[in-house]
Amino acid sequence: MCGIVAYIGNREAYPIVMKGLRRLEYRGYDSAGIALIDKELLVYKCKGKVDDLEYFIGTQNTLGNIGIGHTRWATHGVPNDVNAHPHYSQAKDLTIIHNGIIENYNAIKKALTLRGHTFTSDTDTEVLIHLIEDIRNNAKVDLVEAVRLALNEAVGAYAIVILSKDNPNQLIAARKSSPLVIGIGVDEFFCASDATPIIEYTKNVVYLNDEEIAVINRGEELKIITTKNIAKTPYVQELELNIEAIEKGGYEHFMLKEIFEQPRSIRDSIRGRVLVDQGLIKLGGITEYSQKIVNAKRIIIIGCGTSWHAGLVGEYLIEDLARIPVEVEYASEFRYRNPIINEDDVVIAISQSGETADTLAAIELAKSKGALVYGICNVAGSSIARTTHAGSYTHAGPEIGVASTKAFTAQVAILTAFALSVAKQRGTINESRYQQLLIELDTVPELVEKVLLQSDKTKAIAAIMKDAPNSLYLGRGYSFPVALEGALKLKEISYIHAEGYPAAEMKHGPIALIDEEMPVVVIATKGANYEKVVSNIQEVKARKGIIIAVVTEGDEHAALLADYIIEIPESDECLVPIISVVPLQLLSYYIAVMRGCNVDQPRNLAKSVTVE
Ligand code: F6R
Repeated sequence: MCGIVAYIGNREAYPIVMKGLRRLEYRGYDSAGIALIDKELLVYKCKGKVDDLEYFIGTQNTLGNIGIGHTRWATHGVPNDVNAHPHYSQAKDLTIIHNGIIENYNAIKKALTLRGHTFTSDTDTEVLIHLIEDIRNNAKVDLVEAVRLALNEAVGAYAIVILSKDNPNQLIAARKSSPLVIGIGVDEFFCASDATPIIEYTKNVVYLNDEEIAVINRGEELKIITTKNIAKTPYVQELELNIEAIEKGGYEHFMLKEIFEQPRSIRDSIRGRVLVDQGLIKLGGITEYSQKIVNAKRIIIIGCGTSWHAGLVGEYLIEDLARIPVEVEYASEFRYRNPIINEDDVVIAISQSGETADTLAAIELAKSKGALVYGICNVAGSSIARTTHAGSYTHAGPEIGVASTKAFTAQVAILTAFALSVAKQRGTINESRYQQLLIELDTVPELVEKVLLQSDKTKAIAAIMKDAPNSLYLGRGYSFPVALEGALKLKEISYIHAEGYPAAEMKHGPIALIDEEMPVVVIATKGANYEKVVSNIQEVKARKGIIIAVVTEGDEHAALLADYIIEIPESDECLVPIISVVPLQLLSYYIAVMRGCNVDQPRNLAKSVTVE
């Protein structure tokens, strides 16, 4: 979603801010803008991409050692030049960039209009900077105090940075429910909505907490106060990110790089946790709460999109191995449906970004009812990682492609380790199966590597599917969530309508769609439901659907029935999702490329969904 970059120091701000905006392009956006001070306050903004902004700026003045930049993902008002950030105050001496939503902007706008303010855009952001200006002028306070008072009036979420024409030596930044990181260099500071624009300049960062305001003065130490006016000591952390992790490294797209990184990212996610030599699993982040987890009456898993699909795999794993009842909920539904949450429930919140607004709100709800919340996040220091009681990082590394791939397999790897560990402690798994699964989980990265070796075969199948307007993805048991995930990957990056279904449900409706034009992707690997899935394939075949089957290596029976097959190495059924999802990711990728789609930044999508 929207991206923020800001710079103050001795270098030219323009190239730093523009490069930062490009680093944030992965988050998804539809307009971009920048403000600089070179005696005058210079604001340039337009609809479109950062390239369009650069073209629009052309040879205009881009000088100055202080600047702010923004990529906007439209919420209030269509994507156009006027609604793009930065926004001016009435007197045009202040300008603001903002991520999030000011929910009471309409009421504030009405009051300000009565006091003579006029607005040029449809945005809530413009209202906020006018409010700050109004307070500064009428209460006769300095800008920092005006920002603080305005934020006490604003309801909603924000990460903001403000630039004042009259003070080219100061940036003011603040956050509530939308991330903001401050990089601390030598005589220079950077602000950004995540660390990617900062990493090449400094590893020292401060993550602002909710309702904190950072006052960044040139040549001075960083100062932080809360919106209640309490001074805070900045907590400087060292980033673990490296620059290679956020570049394409020779791949055509981030998504392809991230798919191919999976043997490494899965390995990193289980390293130090799945200890085959010692025959045990160690999830350090939850040790303190292990009794509560082992005795949980119920586990509720919350997440959105792909993370929700990982949660569904988690449900199968935990119920199957640890025998604790599990419910999997869309965070967006859970938070608003007055759910029953007890103190002996354990809530698992899954999120790649750690910033998804609905998941965050669902966590707060669960915490308020006394449940223990365990977070599985990829982004270190993210809001979800910080707000949960216990947690495990997935260590997949930065995921830049909007479509989630390596985060999913890492999440499922952690959930597998979690289920196994709880099963062992509850005595619901016998020792030999436990040890066997430990060994097999440890070899999953190698099995994924084998699947990746067949990418050319998947590419050939993509060529067959690429012009289909619709497709169906079917699976049963552990493979049902994989079918959902395969369908989501296809629709989000290729814009082909795809539906994931439990294979047996097909005859209750979707079977009506099947004809000789309809590709049906079936996950038909060996396992408890194998024969049943084969029957489902027969049903598709009888209606002349085009069958693309993901099968276990050497399965000649399924190979004879299907039109096209992708083989994956044999493994225990409960480990199959991590492996079988990989060819589906590749399939979507190649189809999207063949259709000329923008794979890494699909239309309308945002990487980090910080609005509800
Ligand atoms: C799909 C995708 C989204 C995210 C969802 C949740 O490829 O990326 O569906 O999975 O927006 O995001 P996180 O995991 O960051 O909470």
